[in-house]
Amino acid sequence: MKNVCVITGGGSGMGLAAAHIMGKDHFIILAGRTASRLESAVKELRDEGIETEAFAADVSSRQSVEKLAEYAAGCGRVRALIHCAGLSPHMGDARLIMQGNALGTVNIDEVFYEIMGEGSCILNVSSMSAYLTPQFIMPKRLYKHALTDIEKFLKKIMGFIRLMPRSQQANVAYGISKNFVIWYTKKMAEKMGGKGIRILSVTPGNFETPMGRLESKEASEYIKYCAIKRFGRPEEIAELMAFCASEKPGFLTGADIICDGGCVASGVNPLKNIL
Ligand SMILES: NC(=O)c1ccc[n+]([C@@H]2O[C@H](COP(=O)([O-])OP(=O)(O)OC[C@H]3O[C@@H](n4cnc5c(N)ncnc54)[C@H](OP(=O)(O)O)[C@@H]3O)[C@@H](O)[C@H]2O)c1
Repeated sequence: MKNVCVITGGGSGMGLAAAHIMGKDHFIILAGRTASRLESAVKELRDEGIETEAFAADVSSRQSVEKLAEYAAGCGRVRALIHCAGLSPHMGDARLIMQGNALGTVNIDEVFYEIMGEGSCILNVSSMSAYLTPQFIMPKRLYKHALTDIEKFLKKIMGFIRLMPRSQQANVAYGISKNFVIWYTKKMAEKMGGKGIRILSVTPGNFETPMGRLESKEASEYIKYCAIKRFGRPEEIAELMAFCASEKPGFLTGADIICDGGCVASGVNPLKNIL
């Protein structure tokens, strides 16, 4: 049976960079909403001799994720899931961001839990906004609803976000959604461990990807606080993702790994001036 690696958001940026590495010993399934983007990524990988297929899917739709999982299970043993799909503040309003990032992660992790098993790994992707958004804003007490009633979770979280100034709602939604991804990853570790699945999150700082370029005006503000004063290259985080998803770190689960050129470590909170 083939070892399969599913990469959401695999048509561009970090996901595509991870596919180049994971493709050396996995059959790659690239998922995203835009078929044309996925097709050009598939061509790029096949030109390198990587076995890959595209599957158009929207992670915020449970039905769409179920179809993706069914397709992936039919291709072989799903050994790795790298969940890069995400929306930043320039890509949608607060609701769309919360649905793409928080609900998308719950959908992906819950559905793939059913078809993955011993020796496999789920890797979620957060953001340093999870750490840089002032922590007193994070409605952590609401996160638990995602485990039992996802509609209630979304309703309560959106009610909370609407209390913020309108101009900041998308930014706040992004920070909360990515803080939730870290919380959820840790929360799921024990359940996943019962099936021999490891689950981790990786937290990127600023990277040279289509999303990173869209956010570059705001992101450039952070650079001066980082230990490494430049944007990260997608292949630098892709190497970390591929290592985490491989069988080598077999004891690593329920953890968040920050890859941000030392920005969070600086202790600086660049958002405090605008909130
Ligand atoms: N670049 C940075 O500086 C940075 C910093 C912190 C965190 N991150 C996180 O890193 C991850 C990867 O982002 P990237 O930088 O590689 O940006 P990117 O190239 O824009 O990748 C994001 C991908 O997600 C897909 N996507 C968005 N919404 C989706 C949905 N609902 N269902 C399925 N696919 C969806 C997009 O494809 P479609 O639009 O075709 O669906 C796109 O391929 C994201 O989770 C992002 O939040 C990035």
